[in-house]
Amino acid sequence: MKIKTARFVISNTEVDKCPSPVLPEFAFIGRSNVGKSSLINMITDQNKLAKISARPGKTQCINHFIINDEWYLVDLPGYGFARNSKSAREKFESFISEYILKRESLNCLFILIDSRLKMQKIDEEFITWVGNSQIPFALIFTKTDKLNKKQLAVNISLYKKELLKTWDELPKLLYSSSLAKLGREDILSYIDCILK
Ligand code: GTP
Ligand code: MG
Repeated sequence: MKIKTARFVISNTEVDKCPSPVLPEFAFIGRSNVGKSSLINMITDQNKLAKISARPGKTQCINHFIINDEWYLVDLPGYGFARNSKSAREKFESFISEYILKRESLNCLFILIDSRLKMQKIDEEFITWVGNSQIPFALIFTKTDKLNKKQLAVNISLYKKELLKTWDELPKLLYSSSLAKLGREDILSYIDCILK
């Protein structure tokens, strides 16, 4: 699939104020700093579309970007950001979980996982919650440029083993490096497949 246009539409913390759910959308979530916003920029080939930062907790809202005037990419805040207060975390959790559970036009939630790490408890709990809530999801292993081929293969194989302890089947697994610009075609083909 070719991306001809990608534009920022709206940023907010209220699901009711998101664009009306008439176009399909694909959202990116994962731990703070995993590379969600960077991946949106890499996929759309615009380095300033989504705001990125080396400090975790940059994205704080639900951000809609319209692609080819046909579908949305959605950048979400990260979870597991310890510097936020408990009340800020609870507020975050409520609008994000409301978005995930109620957004009827959400075609797939991409859960981003840092390819360098073994399965983290917070990711495991999040994946379980999403799966049990019957939300269509796929996993994207990010920052693959930080590992060599062998290390990446070992980590992915361990991750699959962990997933298979809970699930009968593996979800769709994708791999990306925003730095090395890898994974774009596979992610876009997967989106294209769902759109068709
Ligand atoms: P929050 O909005 O805070 O939840 O973070 P995020 O998941 O949107 O992460 P963001 O895209 O802001 O990137 C966090 C940091 O990781 C930045 O310093 C990026 O430059 C870096 N980063 C993101 N993707 C990659 C990647 O593929 N490779 C490398 N080496 N660094 C990356
Ligand atoms: Mg972000």
